[in-house]
Amino acid sequence: MKMKSILAVLATAMTAAVSVTAFASGGPEIKYAGATASRTDLESLQRGARLFVNHCLNCHSAQYVRYKTLMDLNLTEDQVKQNLMFGAEKIGETMKTSIRPADAKEWFGAVPPDLSVMARSYTTEKLAGYLRSFYQDESRPTGWNNLVSPNIGMPHALAELSGPTKLVTKSFTVDGKELKTDHDAEGKAKGEFIAAGTMASFEHHSKKVDGKTINTYVVNTIANAGPGAMTPQQYDHAVADLVNFMDFIGEPHKAKRVQIGILMMFLLAFLLVAAYALKKEYWRDVH
Ligand code: HEC
Repeated sequence: MKMKSILAVLATAMTAAVSVTAFASGGPEIKYAGATASRTDLESLQRGARLFVNHCLNCHSAQYVRYKTLMDLNLTEDQVKQNLMFGAEKIGETMKTSIRPADAKEWFGAVPPDLSVMARSYTTEKLAGYLRSFYQDESRPTGWNNLVSPNIGMPHALAELSGPTKLVTKSFTVDGKELKTDHDAEGKAKGEFIAAGTMASFEHHSKKVDGKTINTYVVNTIANAGPGAMTPQQYDHAVADLVNFMDFIGEPHKAKRVQIGILMMFLLAFLLVAAYALKKEYWRDVH
């Protein structure tokens, strides 16, 4: 009886998982490829911290993070105070924002969410994609839109670094003869329209016309529309540093925890061997 109900719960969970996947494959597929940075690279984390305090804290808070945590990045208290603390006095203070929630709501139509654990809920890959996919759009109140989070209320906070950006949409149709499989068509789109490292979304529609399948592929890419303070490659790496830092504040003790985990595994393995030896010792005279 009990086993049966457990199985029933499992079956429901699996059906739910399958239907979510089916839904996701219907929308545009986002291609996230871009630069990545390592959690053990302290210089990357320091660069990320600088970007974060200069460009994000104006509107967002990180209220579960104390400035003191930044000393874990091999920085002295003075270095943190002089280079990374604006609007705060004590190293033990949390990262607050100066914007009032009511003002933000009026200006952007939404209150900027707290960024303390954003890298965990949003995932680092998606976060980097989001920060690389702002494009100019006159129809939006802020003048900006976003490929990963369409019609978001946030303007492009790093526009001075990336320079102006625009959305480029290309679509092509194949009748199923020229390119036999979806796979070939995707390869063509990726090869011809998407430069390596570019943010892109990829959509596939197919319909039947006179018994023939017509496949349409729509490819959206973000392209530079003018120079910024950084080249597209430098900007890509800067975003990787920033996201690396946001991953760090979301879980500052991750690296340490992994070390402790490995140590525990060794300890358990040792105990297992010891217990086995002990068992053999006890039973030797019995057998
Ligand atoms: C000018 C104010 C402003 C600045 C500066 C700013 N943001 Fe935002 N951000 C917002 C607002 C407003 C929202 C909520 C928009 C909405 O829900 O429509 C938001 C939402 C977000 C979201 C959630 C997006 C989603 O899909 O829900 C993330 C992630 C984010 N911001 C990250 C950042 C990072 C990282 C920086 C620094 C590079 C930054 N923001 C700088 C105003 C700002």
